[in-house]
Amino acid sequence: MKKLLILLTFLAAGGANAAEVTSATIDKYNQKCAMCHNGNVPGAPKSHDVAAWEQRLATAGSMEALVASAVKGKGAMPPKGMCFDCTNGDFEALIAYMSAAE
Ligand code: HEC
Repeated sequence: MKKLLILLTFLAAGGANAAEVTSATIDKYNQKCAMCHNGNVPGAPKSHDVAAWEQRLATAGSMEALVASAVKGKGAMPPKGMCFDCTNGDFEALIAYMSAAE
């Protein structure tokens, strides 16, 4: 139940301009993020591992902070995950996609 609440808060936090996951999001994910977030790179939160992403969000404190962290880069995560044409909105959508159950 706690997990569900966190996830709902997470989704609601997007508010009025909540990022929408479109087929373009999934294409970007496959081209730019999947190679590291599909479980091949130790330490990278695995896509669709809801608990791992809840943890990331909790540590960052907000969706904005998590997006900022991805844009800045963190540890073995290069700035913007090397997706230089990704906007902050794209990152929100990518994170929404990656953090949701499959
Ligand atoms: C070269 C491998 C690599 C690529 C490409 C990559 N990531 Fe990451 N990512 C990582 C690793 C490793 C971490 C964990 C970093 C850490 O906690 O030290 C991470 C962490 C993250 C985090 C969590 C940051 C935090 O503050 O906890 C987000 C969000 C993220 N990646 C999003 C993305 C998105 C979106 C893409 C595609 C545009 C992407 N990543 C591409 C390796 C990658």
